[in-house]
Amino acid sequence: MVAVILDCDPGHDDALAILLAAADPSLDLLAITTVAGNQTLDKCTLNARRVCTVAGITGVPIAAGADRPLRRPRRVAAHIHGESGLDGPAFGEPTVGVSDEPAVELMRGLLLDRPEPVTLVPTGPLTNIATLLDRYPEVREGIAEIVLMGGSTGRGNTSPYAEFNIAVDPEAAEIVFGSGLDVTMVGLNATHQALVTPDVVARIRAVGTDVADVCADLMTFYAAAYERVYGLPGPPLHDPMAVARVIDRSVVGCVPAPVRVETAGTYTSGATAVDLHHVTGEPDNALVAVDVDVRRYFDLVVEAVTRVGLTQR
Ligand code: RIB
Ligand code: CA
Repeated sequence: MVAVILDCDPGHDDALAILLAAADPSLDLLAITTVAGNQTLDKCTLNARRVCTVAGITGVPIAAGADRPLRRPRRVAAHIHGESGLDGPAFGEPTVGVSDEPAVELMRGLLLDRPEPVTLVPTGPLTNIATLLDRYPEVREGIAEIVLMGGSTGRGNTSPYAEFNIAVDPEAAEIVFGSGLDVTMVGLNATHQALVTPDVVARIRAVGTDVADVCADLMTFYAAAYERVYGLPGPPLHDPMAVARVIDRSVVGCVPAPVRVETAGTYTSGATAVDLHHVTGEPDNALVAVDVDVRRYFDLVVEAVTRVGLTQR
């Protein structure tokens, strides 16, 4: 089993990343940490608790992290994820709590105590991860690799050239990509190969459990937002793809490349400059996702929803 920590900003796609990370038998989900991104920190943390409650995920600590980027003003994505950050289904009061320990300190403790290095899977802005590396450099040897959802080898979604997670906190992303750790970037160029079209929603709903219904309702809301904003036939299932890469390397094919983060551009701030053809002569500092086995990817997601299903309707 691979020990992982999921750092997220739920967020509709983060919600399915939580389920996949918790349910897949090849992973040992040590903790869920939250960061301001799709919504405010409080809303993202509440949403992580909601997802774990609905899915019956217990015994996995949830810890809250940064409530704003390192330097820039906070921004959210309510136009995609709604005012709650998890609009669509109705959620009751969560029974899963939140840790008293802040996210970065909880991560530090886990990374120092574990016998084997841990894989970090960030699926939101990289503020927590950058803070962890900066404040506690001793944790580096406890990190096996960082497999993040963010960036793009092509166009952006938050500006013409910047993807949301990087655009929110480019300075944090610069720290992570410049860390010298093994970093894998699962960007929009990969996630847009896996759109949650109605047939995928139907596969999820057909699982027939309460949690499957919640996931299908989440994807239905998410799909309407992506159709309204981007005119896509289905929303890209971004975040679980980073988890899928940890589960099975063959599901998400990657190539080594230099990745630099634009932190100064007037129109390009937050862009990930991925030198796929090595024209800059820069050294490779990341693996970059380029190919996706979409069928296998969605199989993993549906299998996870099936496993966490609490009650057959
Ligand atoms: O750009 C997509 C990413 O930004 C996803 O992680 C989504 O949840 C948002 O955080
Ligand atoms: Ca996210």
